[in-house]
Amino acid sequence: MKNLSIPPPADQGLDQTLRPKTWQEYIGQEKIKRNLRVIIDASKKRGEPLEHLLFYGNSGLGKTTLSHIIAQEMGASIKMTSGPAIERAGDLAAILTNLSDGDILFIDECHRLNKIIEEYLYPAMEDFKLNIIIGKGPMASTMELPLPHFTLIGATTRVAMISSPLRNRFGATFQLSFYGSEDIEKIIQRSAKILNVEIESDAVKLISQRSRFTPRVANRLLKRARDFAQVEGQGLITENMAKKALELLEIDEAGLEYGDRRILETLITKFEGGPVGLQTLAAATSEEQDALLDVYEPYLMQLGFMERTPKGRMATKLAYAHLGIKYKGNQNLL
Ligand code: ADE
Repeated sequence: MKNLSIPPPADQGLDQTLRPKTWQEYIGQEKIKRNLRVIIDASKKRGEPLEHLLFYGNSGLGKTTLSHIIAQEMGASIKMTSGPAIERAGDLAAILTNLSDGDILFIDECHRLNKIIEEYLYPAMEDFKLNIIIGKGPMASTMELPLPHFTLIGATTRVAMISSPLRNRFGATFQLSFYGSEDIEKIIQRSAKILNVEIESDAVKLISQRSRFTPRVANRLLKRARDFAQVEGQGLITENMAKKALELLEIDEAGLEYGDRRILETLITKFEGGPVGLQTLAAATSEEQDALLDVYEPYLMQLGFMERTPKGRMATKLAYAHLGIKYKGNQNLL
């Protein structure tokens, strides 16, 4: 049978050990945690499966982690798949009929589910039924397949791309936001303990400042700083070691990587600061439009380096200052 699970990304081994497994271990997103605990406790009290949940927010903020904790709290097993992996109705049928009552089905990138699959999902979510079409043309008939009472957890970076009929079938929707520096510092300290590496508090601060307010990035930078400290030093991550590791990775004081700076530079030098359309900017930087939308732009906008206007993307004065380019006003806006 076709493998419908999503392959683990590189570096996942360590990520698994760093991933918090309980509410107590999970740092940040306090409001979401509080809401989820109520929803979970109530459904446990009623002895019912959990309602379908939708998580959205930038990648690396903990949508998958939260879902694993929910499964653990519910004493349920969780099956992972993603929107693009479910190509045909048969794929969906195979996944759904293999679930048991109370199981959680996690669909990552659920904005990329195709329309036909979405149509099959509606009755599956609402009435736990799958209407399978057998045969073709005038002889086609439908068969109703009963399904276990599962919980769907959808995750997406683009909630606006989820059709409203699908969105409406989730019992609750939560937006994960960027983390505050204090929370990121706590996450770095926790991860360092798990990795069994000593780190100075100034190094924690430095890594936190450059981690794009994102735990996954913070953990990645911590691991690279650890490598550097083990090779170039005595193993202790000092502020100096962390700084050198970040310099080697070309990550600047604002947490921008080479790719981020190239996008801003292109916007400023080739398009006079914009406005420029997404497609044009993608072509000029040889980046995928999806990468611009999901990876680069959210952070550049969070820092106030880029704006999305009706006419297109624009570099802000702050972006000019960060790159050391003199801002002479935007001629395109006159
Ligand atoms: N590692 C990744 N995300 C985390 C979080 N929110 N809390 C603790 N450790 C984490």
